[in-house]
Amino acid sequence: MTSILARALRRQTTSVATRSIQTLSFGGTDETIIERSDYPKSKIEELFKDDTVSMLGYGTQGRGQALNARDSGIEMCIGLREGGASWKLAIEDGWVPGESLVSVEEAAARGTVVMYLLSDAGQVR
Ligand SMILES: NC(=O)c1ccc[n+]([C@@H]2O[C@H](COP(=O)([O-])OP(=O)(O)OC[C@H]3O[C@@H](n4cnc5c(N)ncnc54)[C@H](OP(=O)(O)O)[C@@H]3O)[C@@H](O)[C@H]2O)c1
Repeated sequence: MTSILARALRRQTTSVATRSIQTLSFGGTDETIIERSDYPKSKIEELFKDDTVSMLGYGTQGRGQALNARDSGIEMCIGLREGGASWKLAIEDGWVPGESLVSVEEAAARGTVVMYLLSDAGQVR
């Protein structure tokens, strides 16, 4: 398992953690954000341009991190059990069944980065 942050840090060659205020478009909505100048959205997109990040689980952690990554331009795939509460919520959030929303097994196989964020009880099954 490889976290997005660990992968980004391994690929990082310089670290200048200054910040700036930017207005970026997220899903068609302009938002004013504080962005680290050493990690602009364009750099995240470049770092992960060849990756598919699979998010297994869509609870408190999985949902937040998946939406954040999608807003950052990362190709995402959500892995859930079909028909569960999370599956329905994921559809409401715009993930598409059979495309960006698939079974846990398919997402695990598809991801070049896999984030394992099922509930702790679900992880042991
Ligand atoms: N919550 C926090 O603040 C927090 C903080 C730090 C670390 N963590 C860690 O992050 C991980 C995820 O925590 P969370 O709070 O985000 O979990 P959660 O809100 O309980 O999310 C559970 C997710 O796991 C799925 N799931 C549960 N059992 C499953 C099963 N048997 N098969 C397939 N899917 C199953 C649920 O899908 P359904 O809707 O289908 O049930 C749901 O998408 C845990 O390891 C936790 O310890 C959490």
